[in-house]
Amino acid sequence: MYGGKDHDKAGEIANQVLKNVRNKVKVGASLAEICDQIEKEIVDLGAQPAFPCSVAVNEYAAHYAPLFGDKLVVPENSIAKVDFGVHIDGYICDCATTVNFNPALTHLEKASKESLKAAVEIVKDGVTIAELGNTIHRVMRENNASPVFNLTGHSMDQHMIHAGLSILNHENNVQTKLTEGMVVAIETFSSTGAGYVHDRGRPGIYSIINPKNVRNAAARKILSHFYTERKTLPFAERWLHKIESSSFAIQNALRELGSFEVIMPYPPLSELTGAMVSQHECTLLVEKNGFHIIGGDYP
Ligand code: CO
Repeated sequence: MYGGKDHDKAGEIANQVLKNVRNKVKVGASLAEICDQIEKEIVDLGAQPAFPCSVAVNEYAAHYAPLFGDKLVVPENSIAKVDFGVHIDGYICDCATTVNFNPALTHLEKASKESLKAAVEIVKDGVTIAELGNTIHRVMRENNASPVFNLTGHSMDQHMIHAGLSILNHENNVQTKLTEGMVVAIETFSSTGAGYVHDRGRPGIYSIINPKNVRNAAARKILSHFYTERKTLPFAERWLHKIESSSFAIQNALRELGSFEVIMPYPPLSELTGAMVSQHECTLLVEKNGFHIIGGDYP
């Protein structure tokens, strides 16, 4: 569902934050500090993060929200994907861009950028998942890259980042259509390898999927705080340290919430063979004869 003025405002804020990304993502900059700054900027501009900011470097494709105390920095010669979401009253603009420090990966960056542009340009009521996937895959190939096969774009709804429809980034024959009034995020991931990602490392992102009573005190505190504030929108492990000082209590609480399936973890996603990945993403409204860009890195 499209949220009108609030939605467009979320998009404008996302675009403003995107403009400043390159001032923050520099070789040697701390990933945790970049994410803290981006999330703070979203709040300062009058919105809320729709999910924790992720800075995924090199073979990491997505869901790299630094853990509390994470010391990782942007490495030399790396390619960094910055993915964040902005929401106002649950109306979400999901967007991502790539900052590339490796001259040998220019084609990879171009592949995700131009395939996004080509896909967006054919969006209108009735366009199929097949037409979108085939377009994206063709542009990837023209740029000597492979799409990431198991990462997709998605439809969105109020307070809901994934509303059921997946927009495949590869050749397919799915005849499901985008229809007028849908809000979708198209996110293209290009890879120098075979293009498959898998879970790797400790999750820095969680969402509440089933808010039920638990005994553990810290778990109750986390649940009541984030469910009140964000409903099911994801939160970062890093954010928990603002409401609970003991790391030990936090880890116990996460374990308990996980074992009762109250929360769902989103671990970092990295390319299976260690190949490099680039990403671009924007959010748009599907219209009768075209599209309306809400926000994001749309060239
Ligand atoms: Co997305």
